[in-house]
Amino acid sequence: MIKSLEQLELAKNLLELEELRVAIFGKKGLLTLEFLKLKDIKAEEKKAFAQSLNEKKKELTTAYEQKKLALEKLALEQELKSQNLDVSRFSFSRKTGAFHPTIETMNTIIRYFQNLNFSVEDGPLIENDFNNFEALNLPKHHPARDMQDTFYTKDFNLLRTHTSPVQIRTMLKEKAPIRMIAPGAVFRRDFDLTHTPMFHQIEGLVVDKEDNVSFANLKHILGEFLQEIFGDVDIRFRPSFFPFTEPSAEVDISCVFCKGKGCRVCSQTGWLEVLGCGVVDQNVFKALGYENVSGYAFGMGVERFAMLLHNIGDLRSLFESDLRLLGQFR
Ligand code: DAH
Repeated sequence: MIKSLEQLELAKNLLELEELRVAIFGKKGLLTLEFLKLKDIKAEEKKAFAQSLNEKKKELTTAYEQKKLALEKLALEQELKSQNLDVSRFSFSRKTGAFHPTIETMNTIIRYFQNLNFSVEDGPLIENDFNNFEALNLPKHHPARDMQDTFYTKDFNLLRTHTSPVQIRTMLKEKAPIRMIAPGAVFRRDFDLTHTPMFHQIEGLVVDKEDNVSFANLKHILGEFLQEIFGDVDIRFRPSFFPFTEPSAEVDISCVFCKGKGCRVCSQTGWLEVLGCGVVDQNVFKALGYENVSGYAFGMGVERFAMLLHNIGDLRSLFESDLRLLGQFR
């Protein structure tokens, strides 16, 4: 028994301790065998024997439990040491890629209109004069062609100056009712603080029976859209001119930076122009052979939206691929 006590104290690890536990306390263990002797002992010695056995059992149990705690602590320490993991160390976070702010903004706008059941249409970057101008009520030598300074190709095609020709392509391909948007790159001979030779637009077009489409519908859908994108802004429709719409309007939102008080970004006006729109001019339908229909259309510059949403001061920085800027949009 005394040996057992020593053995318990000498156990080097939990495995050894467990073997000892079985050898001492187990079904055929030393202690159990001692207790079995009780039945063969004379009655007058029984009490003393049992008492001393119980004391030994207590002593052994205490020794066992203390040793177990000590060895468990040791095992944990060893495990922690061997894992070699310093959770307090500085870590370099892994860099992940992200969409360019222009593309991210474009995707947000596309998703908005897709949820309203608009289809997403596509067209080529090199267009013909008919789709880009003529069919949009911009005949040759019309002064409004000067609104968009155009890159021409040698074969008298051109780089599309807006996404409006996708309206024409879609109307030629399909019949009313039409509900579409057309996102994509457009090109103009322009380069300064607020203009780049290539930028992105999203065009929208809805065509249906005459009674189904009105300026009121247009006003409603664009109002909801702008409030979803820019939050709680005021919206105003300003009369304007586009050859392919009549009446036409430009849409302003209250300045997202100064909340309409007047600042550098809104040139002290309190308003920011974000969209062109209108009721489709009947001349457009006539050029394509559409009859008894009405429609509304709108167009917006994606970079302009991205700049306003992310407080980007210079349009050109969206074209410079500077990772110090782009990294902020991860
Ligand atoms: N195409 C016009 C532009 O590039 C934008 C625009 C204005 C599109 C009014 C439209 C519209 O569909 O109705 O300046």
